[in-house]
Order: sequence, then structure tokens, then C-alpha cells
Amino acid sequence: MTVSDTAELEKLRGIGRIVARVLEAMGKALEPGMTTAELDALGEKMLEDAGARSAPRVMYDFPGGTCISINEEVAHGIPGPRVIRAGDLVNIDVSAEMDGFFSDTGSSFAVPPVTKQVETLCRDGKRALWEGIRAVRPGGPLNEIGRRIESFATKNNYQLIRNLASHGVGRSLHEEPKEIATWHEPRDRRVIKEGSVFTVEPFLSTASDWVEQADDGWTLFADPGNLTVQYEHTLVATKRGPLVLTTVH
Ligand code: CO
Ligand code: CO
Repeated sequence: MTVSDTAELEKLRGIGRIVARVLEAMGKALEPGMTTAELDALGEKMLEDAGARSAPRVMYDFPGGTCISINEEVAHGIPGPRVIRAGDLVNIDVSAEMDGFFSDTGSSFAVPPVTKQVETLCRDGKRALWEGIRAVRPGGPLNEIGRRIESFATKNNYQLIRNLASHGVGRSLHEEPKEIATWHEPRDRRVIKEGSVFTVEPFLSTASDWVEQADDGWTLFADPGNLTVQYEHTLVATKRGPLVLTTVH
């Protein structure tokens, strides 16, 4: 969507804050021995208490309140009996709706003790996200986001998952501008509109550039042994620069 007034911006800020707080709380609660279903229950309860509804459940009938993906699972993991273990890399993606407005955020968490490689990957995943966010400027090219992220990834010997993209959000979970590449896409000539609301969510990987869908019809996974992280924010492109909505402000 494109934000047209302050009332809309306030609604977006509200739901942005809610998903950010839920993600933060789930990250803190994460511990070995816990199942992903238990972690999800905490998140969905928080959404309900805040008056929000899980976006993947409402929009796509996803069998969970949040998406939780472990290790070789990269995204859209279904919460269930899988037990979280020390050393796991756990991605939590929280998106929700309130009063007709949507927001989307995600983060990967390493469960200690972790290897130096995992620690570095997490740090660099956040850096990749911010490389992309800093490229947001109304009137500027939309593909500058992916160009900067890819340049960062290449410089640091990482791959980017190329069949998962960023996307417009606001009045729906996935809307215009659709399919915003987080890698360099020279054929994309779109320009960033002032007030445009979208996510930036690179999937940075040690070696994978593609995900496959599991037989459950949801979980997206990469080659076992390769490690992938995702960090995601929802933002508005404003005259003063990117305004990140999914913070615990
Ligand atoms: Co997300
Ligand atoms: Co998203």
C-alpha cells in the first residue's frame, strides 16, 4: 500500500510494534527442550492479547500462528512437535493483522552454544538487511535494494536465496509492489514511491541459493548442511528516508 495520511501511518505503526514485540518475546523464550508448537502458542497468545490476528493463518490458512523454521528449514516451517536443541538456528517469522492493517517481521536466532560460523552468519544477515534498508529512497530505483544486498553478500562469500523475495504489505500480507528481489535484478525498472510500504528480507546463506517445498506443502528447505538466516522489517519509504515500522518502539 501507499500511506496517504497520518491515521493510516498510526495504524501501521501499531501493528508493526505488535509483531516486533511478539518476535522479541519469542526470541527470548526460545530454549533447548521446547517444541516449536510451544513457542508458537506463546506468540499467538500475545497476538490475541494485543487484539491482532496471525496473518498467515487468516490469509492462507497456515496451520500455525507464526512460522518457525529450524536449520535446513529456511521459511514457512509449521510449528509442531520438533524439539529445539542447543546449537540450532531457529527462524521465527511473525506477521499479523489488526483493523485491516498488516505488518511482517522475522529474525533468525542461534540457540547457544553456537559455532563461530553461525554467530558470524547471524551478524552478517542483519548487516545484509540494513544494507537493503539504507537503499530505500522515494524516487530511487527499487532494485537498488537488491543490488546493495547482493554486493554485500558477494563481498563476504555468501549466497542469497533467489526464490524468496521481499514484498509490498499494509492492506494485505502480500501486495504491490510484489516480488522485490533481494539480489540484483537489472530488468526491474520500478521506482520507489513516497509512502510505499514494503518489507526488506534477504535470506543470506552459506551455500544455498534456492529453497524447495517439503511434502507438508508449506516448509521451504535448503540443502542440509548449508546454513541460512533471514532478517525482515516492514518499512515506509518517506522523504526523510526509510521509516522502519517493525520495532519495539
Ligand atoms: Co515475514
Ligand atoms: Co515477508
